[in-house]
Amino acid sequence: MAERWTPESWRTKPARQMPAYPDAVKLADAEAQLSAFPPLVFAGEARSLKAHLAKVAAGEAFLLQGGDCAEAFNEFRADKIRDTFRVLLQMAVVLTFGSSMPVVKVGRMAGQFAKPRSSDMETIGGVDLPSYRGDIINGFEFEAESRVPDPERMIRAYNQSASTLNLLRAFAQGGYADLHKVHQWNLGFVGRTPEGERYEAFANRIDEALQFMAACGVTAGTTPSIRETDFYTSHEALLLPYEQALTRIDSTSGDWYDVSSHMLWIGDRTRQLDGAHVEFLRGVKNPVGLKCGPTSDPDELIRLIDVLNPEDEAGRLTLIVRMGADKVEGHLPALLRRVKAEGRTVVWSCDPMHGNTVKSSSGYKTRRFDAILSEVRQFFEIHQAEDTHPGGVHFELTGQDVTECTGGAQAITDNALSLRYHTACDPRLNAHQALELAFLLAEKLKEERADRDKARRIAAAE
Ligand code: PEP
Ligand code: CO
Repeated sequence: MAERWTPESWRTKPARQMPAYPDAVKLADAEAQLSAFPPLVFAGEARSLKAHLAKVAAGEAFLLQGGDCAEAFNEFRADKIRDTFRVLLQMAVVLTFGSSMPVVKVGRMAGQFAKPRSSDMETIGGVDLPSYRGDIINGFEFEAESRVPDPERMIRAYNQSASTLNLLRAFAQGGYADLHKVHQWNLGFVGRTPEGERYEAFANRIDEALQFMAACGVTAGTTPSIRETDFYTSHEALLLPYEQALTRIDSTSGDWYDVSSHMLWIGDRTRQLDGAHVEFLRGVKNPVGLKCGPTSDPDELIRLIDVLNPEDEAGRLTLIVRMGADKVEGHLPALLRRVKAEGRTVVWSCDPMHGNTVKSSSGYKTRRFDAILSEVRQFFEIHQAEDTHPGGVHFELTGQDVTECTGGAQAITDNALSLRYHTACDPRLNAHQALELAFLLAEKLKEERADRDKARRIAAAE
């Protein structure tokens, strides 16, 4: 029998990666303010995302999750939000067209502020300071004062999330996401490149399809999904005082929801069975993600699934696999087999970013585009071999023209990283690289669909 859950029951469990706030009064004050603030999302929206994810789990839709590694206070601009939203829309349209399946769009946006760190301290030039843990906790500047955790930052993160979400809702519902605008989504700096041209060709086919459908009487008037789209938000539920303060009972269902975001995930460093993060997320009804890294063990994973999704509700749990290109083949099959043997319903998603971080010869934290591609490819091939469904992908990306990951069609070199290396945390794909990946994924999804259709035909004939 599970112990009783409350929004604060996590406080009795060991909590990793949490800041030690020096001023308890200031912390309590920020928590009290947040507890009185309006919800950022509604429980009904989280339920509709869960229903979409249930379709993903059944192999009838595909999940595209992406955005910044960490949002930042000084990068808070409408054009940045628009560019990330736009590249996700472009990717989604390529994937929808390639796979003939609905694509569920989830941003790492409007709340992705807290970062787990591999080391508590950072040393530069012989000076030791506490590590930067994301703008919701402390400051990036390498100065003692800025690295002190400040609870006021939670209020600022809430406000930035509210404005970001407001703009995302306007983009998704207010006409920007209209399929008739597929050409306009082609970003200026991408438009004139091979990926841009390939995208243009796609957009032309979509135009043709829209004209054909209009001639048949299917228009934005009859089918609102031509004019608007569903776009959901997500972030890592790392900073539990913040998440607790935004956890409320939904008046419709009587259930607890974390209304800071539609979907929340548990990071690879905080997924201990008896830990605070698992305890917190087991009690809220939102769709939940769980990162699975090279140290994920099949038995332990089943126990985590027991805790996080005891009723085997479809769409509740997404397993986000982040092994690394050189480890995925060795580790993923055992997890897939075990989850399948136990008959558990999950979405399998591939994060090809976090297992492929390296230090470049020029000293930057980077990721090789080839390694990212390789992990995605292997993820699909392993699923095909195990007869399970590769349900989605999870990327760190930006719509900006950054130089943070090496390689890709632009062939960004180690030396070029310094040109536009803007991330405060992990290296992100730029819009070119993101589109390039989407084209590859579309091909993979097409193959997968053809295989499944064939298997169905054979089964029907037997
Ligand atoms: C992240 O998604 O930014 C992250 C820190 O991932 P992981 O927990 O998989 O390392
Ligand atoms: Co990251």
